Amino acid sequence: MKKVIINGGNGRMGQAIARIIANQPQLDLEIVAVREEGQDVHTQADVVIDFSSVQGAQEAFTLARELKAACLIGTTNLPERFLFQMQEEHKIPLFYAPNVSLGVYFFGELLKQASRMYSGYERALHEIHHIHKKDAPSGTAKKLAEAIELPLKKVSYERFGETIGTHILTLSGPYEQIMLKHEALDRDLFAASAVHIAAWLVKQPAGFYTMQDYAQFILKSSKKKENNL
Ligand SMILES: NC(=O)c1ccc[n+]([C@@H]2O[C@H](COP(=O)([O-])OP(=O)(O)OC[C@H]3O[C@@H](n4cnc5c(N)ncnc54)[C@H](OP(=O)(O)O)[C@@H]3O)[C@@H](O)[C@H]2O)c1
Repeated sequence: MKKVIINGGNGRMGQAIARIIANQPQLDLEIVAVREEGQDVHTQADVVIDFSSVQGAQEAFTLARELKAACLIGTTNLPERFLFQMQEEHKIPLFYAPNVSLGVYFFGELLKQASRMYSGYERALHEIHHIHKKDAPSGTAKKLAEAIELPLKKVSYERFGETIGTHILTLSGPYEQIMLKHEALDRDLFAASAVHIAAWLVKQPAGFYTMQDYAQFILKSSKKKENNL
């Protein structure tokens, strides 16, 4: 069993992750500690999973390095300086994604294709999240905009009720409008994905990993399965 520390364990994501780990014994993960702000953790672990705060994410990274454990950071709105620091990592396997959902990653690939196909069309990206969300626009919206080279002034946001996360790209031409929408229906979309990524990450050599690396692994695995049929 690979040992997991959840940083921000009492939060929405932390609790969902703990539930999924408990319900999926085939992933071979067990929680050995749940950390909140200001707590010291001395337990050995194989991976630290962080969904907390900007400060919490940096503490999780430091803790993982001390324990020589892998580290998955899902906290959003991290400062540039820390993002650069993470990219340089070579001591532990470190994964960072402002959106850990594979479905959202593939949605980004679709947006790239659509932007190429409808080149010359006006584009705008809109995101909707729950009223408790602290950052805006969402880390995902920024990442999607970057992927399709859309200036940030073309990204709008809305905070509404308990919406988990919706992203809509509108492409507007002279005679038509195309809308591509991704809507998260359950927070478990992110929690389940984070748990699967953590199970993969603990087996990787030291270095910095993103959704692109994980998606490549998934695509290769499904190709292998197809070939073996
Ligand atoms: N990458 C993704 O796919 C993805 C998906 C969903 C959410 N997120 C991001 O994940 C983060 C957490 O989201 P959430 O909805 O779970 O928020 P949340 O419900 O507010 O949970 C955050 C938890 O972290 C704790 N925390 C705050 N500072 C900490 C520190 N220094 N060390 C350890 N724990 C600390 C909080 O404790 P207190 O309540 O006591 O402050 C709380 O228990 C946000 O940045 C969110 O945008 C990312």
